[in-house]
Formats: sequence, C-alpha cells, structure tokens
Amino acid sequence: ALESMKQMLEDAKKGGYAVGQFNLNNLEYTQAILQAAEEEKSPVILGVSEGAARYMGGYNVVVAMVKSLMEAYGTTVPVAIHLDHGSSFEQCAKAIHAGFTSVMIDASHDPFEENVATTSKVVELAHFHGVSVEAELGTVGGQEDDVSGSIIYADAKECQELVERTGIDCLAPALGSVHGPYKGEPNLGFKEMEEIGKATGLPLVLHGGTGIPTADIKRAISYATSKINVNTENQISQAKRVREVLAEQPDQYDPRKYLGPGRDAIKETVIGKMREFGSSNQA
Ligand code: G3H
Ligand code: ZN
Repeated sequence: ALESMKQMLEDAKKGGYAVGQFNLNNLEYTQAILQAAEEEKSPVILGVSEGAARYMGGYNVVVAMVKSLMEAYGTTVPVAIHLDHGSSFEQCAKAIHAGFTSVMIDASHDPFEENVATTSKVVELAHFHGVSVEAELGTVGGQEDDVSGSIIYADAKECQELVERTGIDCLAPALGSVHGPYKGEPNLGFKEMEEIGKATGLPLVLHGGTGIPTADIKRAISYATSKINVNTENQISQAKRVREVLAEQPDQYDPRKYLGPGRDAIKETVIGKMREFGSSNQA
C-alpha cells in the first residue's frame, strides 16, 4: 500500500535494517522496483528527483503511473513515493498536492537558519497531509541532476538543533558520501554518524549508496541509518545490459527487446540491495 516513510523507517531502525530508496527514471524503473519489492516482500521507497519528474511529465504523471502499476501488480508491500532533493518549499508543495507520500527538502546549501525556516514550513504542510519529511545538513559530494557539490561533513550540534526545531521524520547528515561513482574508497564519518543518530534519535539517511562496500553499509545500519539511496548502480546495470543486447543484435529496433532486458537488470540489482540492506522479508 502507498504510505509515508514514517512507519517504514521506524520499523527499520528498530529492526536493524535499512529500506532502500531506488530512484525512478521512467516506466521500466517503476516496474522493476515494484516487482523486486513484491518478490522480496520488502518495503520500498520510490525516489523521484525534480529532473526525473520533469522527464516523466511532472509529479501527477509519476503518481498516476505508480498507483496504476501497484493496482495492476496487486502490490501488498509498503511503498512510498518520495521527492528526492526537493529544492524549495514550492516544489515540495507541488509534490505533496500531486499525491507524493514523502518529501525531502534539501536546503543544505543555505545558511543554517534559512535551512531551519524552509524545512519547518515544509514540515507544517507535509504533516497536515500525512506526508513524511527528510532534511539534509552538510553536502553530499558528486553530482545528480541539478544537485552538485564537494563533500562537507554535517555538524552534530546543528543536526540536533535542526531536528528539535523542525520536527522532521528523518535526517540525511552528509558524512562523506558521493552521488555517482566514488573516486577510490568512500570515507564515511562513522563517529559523527553514531553521535548524530544518538543525539537526534531519528532514523538517518545515507545518500550516494552506489559503490559503498557491504561492511560500511552494515556499520551505517548499526548507527541508525535506516534509509539508503541508490540510483547510479541501477542506471549502470541497465545501460550495460542494453549495450550488450544491442551489440549482439545490431539490427534490433524494437524497444521492448532491449528495454525489457534492461528492466530485468534493474530488478536484479534492486533485489541484491534489498538483501544487502536486510529489508527482504520485512513487509
Ligand atoms: O538521492 C539519490 C541518491 O543519493 C543516489 O546516489 O546515484 O550515488 O546511488 P547514487
Ligand atoms: Zn541524494
């Protein structure tokens, strides 16, 4: 069923696992991720960036697509439609009014007081609609759509203050993770993660899930990380499979013949992540 992230993440934090956020890019991603979740009996978060929403035709199109597929598949596991890196109150409001069940307000580039003010405004509207809110402090490295920056580690005191003053449901403290592939091994701030998890008492979110070694994933989960975002890894596995099919069949032009196998590759990758994060058989 379609729901907010609140219960899913509280359950995950208590249960010692993390729920994956897998980003949507088009129909095949939505199919692959919903199929994987149902087969694995796993709760799932469908992440939608502003850029991906624009590509698919807007927030209303995304909600209609997800709802119809869930109906067609008879989806029973908990599913959240989540705005990823919402850039403003206006964008969050649009997503909420279109039927998103969760939003991220990413005012991490603004001065702290502005981040608190914008995030509070989003929380007020979102909670009125039963929608959950994720906020961010610090800066995730790398680039994803319109979001880019160099790594800045979140400050534990600011995290605690942001949580207390805004009433958010989960927090993404940037602690060395990167959007897109890592250059070398990731250097996650586990000491800060543990401290922030304890100080805030909230489920934490790990962005840039692609390319993080399993040992680091397990450690992050032990420090209250209850949501892990993955996008690039699905894109890489899809693109690889599509290239293979087209290389084997240079005369192929039926999109179903190469996008279908691409969809299977996404599904296999998502299933692997659900098992690694421990969310399989939790729904
Ligand atoms: O917001 C989305 C994620 O943080 C995805 O990161 O593309 O590196 O897996 P990734
Ligand atoms: Zn992210």
